[in-house]
Amino acid sequence: MKKLSFSFVVLAFLIVSPVVAVALPLYTNSRWIVDEDGQRVKLACVNWASHLEAMVAEGLSKRPLDVISKRIVSMGFNCVRLTWPLFLATNDSLASVTVRQSFRSLGLSETIVGIQVNNPSLVDLPLIQAYQAVVSNLGENNLMVILDNHISKPGWCCSSFDGNGFFGDKYFDPGVWIKGLTSMATMFNATPNVVGMSLRNELRGNKQNVKDWYRYMQQGGEAVHSANPDVLVILSGLNYDKDFSFLAKQPLNLTFSGKLVFELHWYAFSDGKAWETGNPNQVCATVVNNLMRKGGFLLDRGWPLFISEFGVDQRGTNVNDNRFLNCFLGVAAQLDWDWALWTLVGRYYLRQGVVGMDETYGVLSWDWNNIRNSTFVQQISALQSPFQGPGLSSEVTPHKVIFHPSTGLCVVRKSLMMELLKLGSCTESEAWSYTPEKTLSLKDTNLCLQADELGEAAKLGIICSDLSSRWDMISDSKMHISSNLTNGSTVCIDVDSNTNTIITSQCKCLTKDHTCDPSGQWFIIVNSTRSTTATKFSLTTVNRKSSIVKHNQLQLKSLTKGGGRSSLWPFTFTEPITNLDNI
Ligand SMILES: *[C@@H]1O[C@H](CO)[C@@H](O)[C@H](O)[C@H]1NC(C)=O
Ligand SMILES: *[C@@H]1O[C@H](CO)[C@@H](O)[C@H](O)[C@H]1NC(C)=O
Ligand SMILES: *[C@@H]1O[C@H](CO)[C@@H](O)[C@H](O)[C@H]1NC(C)=O
Ligand SMILES: *[C@@H]1O[C@H](CO)[C@@H](O)[C@H](O)[C@H]1NC(C)=O
Ligand SMILES: *[C@@H]1O[C@H](CO)[C@@H](O)[C@H](O)[C@H]1NC(C)=O
Ligand SMILES: *[C@@H]1O[C@H](CO)[C@@H](O)[C@H](O)[C@H]1NC(C)=O
Repeated sequence: MKKLSFSFVVLAFLIVSPVVAVALPLYTNSRWIVDEDGQRVKLACVNWASHLEAMVAEGLSKRPLDVISKRIVSMGFNCVRLTWPLFLATNDSLASVTVRQSFRSLGLSETIVGIQVNNPSLVDLPLIQAYQAVVSNLGENNLMVILDNHISKPGWCCSSFDGNGFFGDKYFDPGVWIKGLTSMATMFNATPNVVGMSLRNELRGNKQNVKDWYRYMQQGGEAVHSANPDVLVILSGLNYDKDFSFLAKQPLNLTFSGKLVFELHWYAFSDGKAWETGNPNQVCATVVNNLMRKGGFLLDRGWPLFISEFGVDQRGTNVNDNRFLNCFLGVAAQLDWDWALWTLVGRYYLRQGVVGMDETYGVLSWDWNNIRNSTFVQQISALQSPFQGPGLSSEVTPHKVIFHPSTGLCVVRKSLMMELLKLGSCTESEAWSYTPEKTLSLKDTNLCLQADELGEAAKLGIICSDLSSRWDMISDSKMHISSNLTNGSTVCIDVDSNTNTIITSQCKCLTKDHTCDPSGQWFIIVNSTRSTTATKFSLTTVNRKSSIVKHNQLQLKSLTKGGGRSSLWPFTFTEPITNLDNI
C-alpha cells in the first residue's frame, strides 16, 4: 500500500493544500529521517520556548493555544521544538505548581489575567499538565513535537557560567538528568506526535570535555530509548552545539540503531561581526567550510543533521544577520537538512528580568497576533518541503532547481510560450540539468540558458554550444552563476528588480569589498526529485481512502497496527500560504 499521497484539497476561498500522509514513528535511514514506510520526512520546525522562569509555553496570555498552533501550521511548519527545563521533570513539587501560582510567584498578575481570558482551561493546571496540554494541542493540529531539554534550572539560556552548561556543573548532575529524561520519555510514550527528544541543548563551559560527552550521551541515549523506543534520540555537540569534530575519529556506541540524529546550531553571531566586516562571498565560504568541518561532515558519514537553531533579527536592520541568512538559505537548500527556526516567540512573559521582552528573532509579532515579517516567512518557505530523499515522488527523475536565497524563489519560465525567465515559486520550478559541458538545460527539451548582452535578459535558446551557453559557479561562495559573452567579458545571472526578469549583469562584490552585498546575484543549483509543474495542477483528491479535508481541520487519527506498538497516523502539512490575512 502506498501511503504517501499528495491529495490536493480545494478550500473555501483560496487555499490549495497538498496532504502528505506520514506513518509514525520516525526512523533514520542514512542521512535521512524517514517514516514507517521509509519515506522521507523533513523536519521544518519552529522553536517554542517553555523553559524560562514561568515554565509555561510563551504567548498563552496573548492568544488561545489552538490559535497559536493553527498559526504555526499556516506558516508552513510541520513541527515544534518545544523546550523544557530539567527540574520540571525531576521535582514533583515544582511540577505540581499551577500556572496561576507560577506567575503569581513572579509577580506577573497581568499575565494571569491574560491566560484566564485566552486559555481559561490552562490557568489552574499544574505546570506539567499545562506542558502536556500544549503537546496534545500541537498533535491535534498535526504538528510533530521534539521535546528539547533546554536547561536544568528554569531561566533564559545560555551562558558559560550559568551552572547549566555541562555535566558536573552546579545545576547539571548527570544522574538527575537521566532521571528527568527517563521521566519525560515515559510520560510521552503513547503520544505519537512526540517524534524526538533533544537530550540537552548547547553543551558548554569550563567543564566540557569529549570523554564525558561520550559517557553521558551514551547513558542518556540508552535511557531515553528504553523508556520510549519510538522517539528519535537527538544529540547536541560541544561549544554551544557548534562542534562535533570529535565524532570524525570516534563513533558513539549505542545498542540501538535507526534513531540517532545530531543537532547543530548556526547563527550569525557565532562568528561575531564577521559577516558585516568582511566580504560576504568570502565570509560565506570561510564560515561554511568551518561548519562542514565541525559538524556538516556528519551528513556524508550517513547521519541526519538537524539544524535545531538558526535565526535572524527579523526587522531587517541587522546587516550581520541579513548577510548570514542569505548564505544560510543557500546551504540549507543545497544540503536539504532538517531544521528548526529560533523562534516562534513574539515576546516573553519574563526574560532576563525584563517583563514582556520583545523577541526580534521571533516569527510572531510582539502581540502574538501577526507575522512579524512576511518577507522572512516567504524566504524560508522553499525549505519547508524536502527537495530530495527516499520515497519522495519516486516517479520524478533527479533534476536541478536554481534557487535564489535572498527571495526564497526559484528560476522559472515567464510563460510556457516565452524564452524569458523570472523568479517564481520553487514548487513551480523548471527541471533543469547541468551538463558536463556546463550548459544549463531544461530537461527533456533542447532548450538551454544563454547570456545575451550585458543588462539584457538571459534567455532560453537552442544553440547550446557557444561560449555564452556555458555557465560556471564563481566567487568564493560559488553562488554566482557566470558566463562569458562572445566578446570575452564575464557576466553573472541577476534579477531585474522592475520586471522580475532574469538578466545578466556585471558580477558584483566577488572579493574584498565589505560594503557590497552580492546577494541579489546569489543563486544555488540544488539537486531535487520534487515533482515539477506537470503534476502540480491536478486538482483532485487522488487517494480513494482520504476524504476531502479542510485546511487545518484534519483530525488526528491514530490507528494501531495489529500487535505492533507503532501507530499509523495520517499526518498532514500544508504549503505555506501567501495571503496571510485570510487565516
Ligand atoms: C523543588 O521545587 C520546590 C518548589 O519550587 C523547591 O522549593 C525545592 O527546593 C525543589 N527541590 C529540589 C530538590 O530541588
Ligand atoms: C565504540 O566501539 C568501538 C569498537 O568496539 C571502540 O573502538 C570505540 O572506542 C568505542 N567508542 C566509545 C566512545 O566507547
Ligand atoms: C522584513 O525583512 C526585510 C528583509 O530583511 C526588511 O527589508 C523589511 O524592512 C522587514 N519588514 C519589517 C516589517 O520588519
Ligand atoms: C563586451 O560587450 C559589452 C556589451 O554587451 C560591453 O559592455 C563590454 O565592455 C564588452 N567587453 C569587452 C571586453 O569588449
Ligand atoms: C570565462 O572566461 C574565463 C577567463 O577566460 C574563464 O576562466 C572561464 O572559465 C570562462 N567561463 C566559462 C563559463 O566558460
Ligand atoms: C547533487 O547530485 C550530483 C549528481 O548526482 C552529486 O554528484 C552531488 O554530490 C550532489 N550534490 C549534493 C550537494 O548533494
